[in-house]
Amino acid sequence: MTTVLSTDKPNSLEQDKAVNPEQTQFTSTEGEEHKQPATSFVSQFDTQAASKKEAKSNNVKLSTSDVHVYYGESEAIKGIDLNIYENEVIAFIGPSGCGKSTFLRTLNRMNDTIDSCRVTGKVMLDNQDIYDPNLDVVLLRAQVGMVFQKPNPFPKSIFENVAYGPKLHGLARDKYDLEEIVENSLRKAGLWDEVKDRLSQPGTGLSGGQQQRLCIARTIAVSPEVILMDEPCSALDPIATAKVEELISELSTQYTIAIVTHSMQQAARVSDRTAYFHLGDLIEVNSTEKVFTQPDHQLTEAYITGRFG
Ligand SMILES: Nc1ncnc2c1ncn2[C@@H]1O[C@H](COP(=O)(O)OP(=O)(O)OP(=O)(O)O)[C@@H](O)[C@H]1O
Ligand SMILES: [Mg+2]
Repeated sequence: MTTVLSTDKPNSLEQDKAVNPEQTQFTSTEGEEHKQPATSFVSQFDTQAASKKEAKSNNVKLSTSDVHVYYGESEAIKGIDLNIYENEVIAFIGPSGCGKSTFLRTLNRMNDTIDSCRVTGKVMLDNQDIYDPNLDVVLLRAQVGMVFQKPNPFPKSIFENVAYGPKLHGLARDKYDLEEIVENSLRKAGLWDEVKDRLSQPGTGLSGGQQQRLCIARTIAVSPEVILMDEPCSALDPIATAKVEELISELSTQYTIAIVTHSMQQAARVSDRTAYFHLGDLIEVNSTEKVFTQPDHQLTEAYITGRFG
């Protein structure tokens, strides 16, 4: 819990619903007009979300306050306040170019790797300001791991791909401990049975879906608290996608997950809450069920019903 944020109250979910109240172009009266049940498109989504809670915990894990991101002179993120709760899966959706990846990257300082990029505002992981200049960024990226759109295994063996992080961070006491971490991580990633007899073979020799699960195993191996995923299934076929989605649901019992997706069906299947982004603004964040059945905002409804985006 952090003392700098106004949102660490038991009913803080309510506050998330009033996203960026100063954004006068998206007034609350606009939202009021859309309070009538928008049931016509409910059936489009095979949603498990209906049975899910709004968020699994009231403990804020990651929190952003007035986050702006600039690429040179251009403002890509325009002041976002968002709480992400422990053990929830939150989906980021919105049209291409609206800032989903940029915002996701602010959560573990991946934007630091882009020269023209400047971030202002505050991002807290528990009670740690992650933009503190004294922070160990390598450690941060272990705590807040990232899985990318395109599976990117290292040009190393399957074993070494997973062992790399634990070795770097000194997490294994000895060889046996390391082997156990690798096996457990591959098991959690649902890949162990498929690779246990070929651990010394190159990670790049696996299928795309297996490679993505290997990357997830690699992320898990350093015991992250949060996993960020940027369209993790966009390069996968439906079967591999289903496996990764199943995995996300299993992982959410242990980790906090933020996932960017262009698939609204995927957001509906895997997430507890959904955040809708539009031109660098966070327009709405609510339970996934609400966003897909009765969104508060006209822009969200237009997007999910396919009227733009
Ligand atoms: N490295 C970069 N340098 C300059 N501008 C960038 C860079 N990355 C993103 N942008 C710009 O920032 C804005 C947000 O881009 P971002 O990639 O975050 O959007 P997105 O919502 O993830 O889009 P998509 O759904 O297509 O992945 C866009 O206008 C984009 O052109
Ligand atoms: Mg993106």
